[in-house]
Amino acid sequence: MEYLTVALAKGRLAELSIDLFLQMGMDCSEMKEKTRKLIFTDEVHKMKFILVKASDVPTYVEYGAADIGIVGKDTLLEENRNLYEMLNLGFGACRMAVCGRAEIKDKLFGINNLRVASKYPKIAQSYFQDEKGQTIELIQLHGSVELAPLVGLSDVIVDIVESGKTLAENGLEVLYEICPLSARFVVNKVSMKMHTDRIMKIVEFFRERIV
Ligand code: PRP
Repeated sequence: MEYLTVALAKGRLAELSIDLFLQMGMDCSEMKEKTRKLIFTDEVHKMKFILVKASDVPTYVEYGAADIGIVGKDTLLEENRNLYEMLNLGFGACRMAVCGRAEIKDKLFGINNLRVASKYPKIAQSYFQDEKGQTIELIQLHGSVELAPLVGLSDVIVDIVESGKTLAENGLEVLYEICPLSARFVVNKVSMKMHTDRIMKIVEFFRERIV
């Protein structure tokens, strides 16, 4: 039997996913330990688990380096890779939103060359240009995005809001919601044809446990 490889987004999504694979009887408990290892193998079920940066999960799956991936919808929208999105797992729920100071809300869509800071340039461009027909100046950042409007780097941000704590503690708020987000189960298109039964067994197991 060939190995099936699962790419997990490092962090909370991986932890929740590992619990589900453990419930399935797969031996991936070593992933819960503090370790620098990146590949974990279950020889009995012929499964490999790899830990990768969230934004790289769709790349591994599209190229077939992983047959299966578990990753946030935000990453899928931003990466726009050629793969099957099989299941909304429900966990990791949060939302993508345009955020900023409350005063800017009413005039937002009238501002010429609105400066938008984001870790998600494609999602931000697509929302303003395709949905609102507004030209923006996109400023790509890689973290602490909430800082941008506070120091005059941008007018607003497009970012993930989970508890809303980061916004509240920095005097910002959600101005417009773009879309809800959560973890998704994705599959490589060729793997789906080659290993339909094995993959669907995992999909069904996960489907029954969706929160
Ligand atoms: C994410 C996101 C927000 C924050 C939202 O950042 O980009 O900044 O979490 O969570 P909250 O609504 O619960 O406060 P992350 O923790 O990934 O940090 P970084 O963007 O600075 O890397």
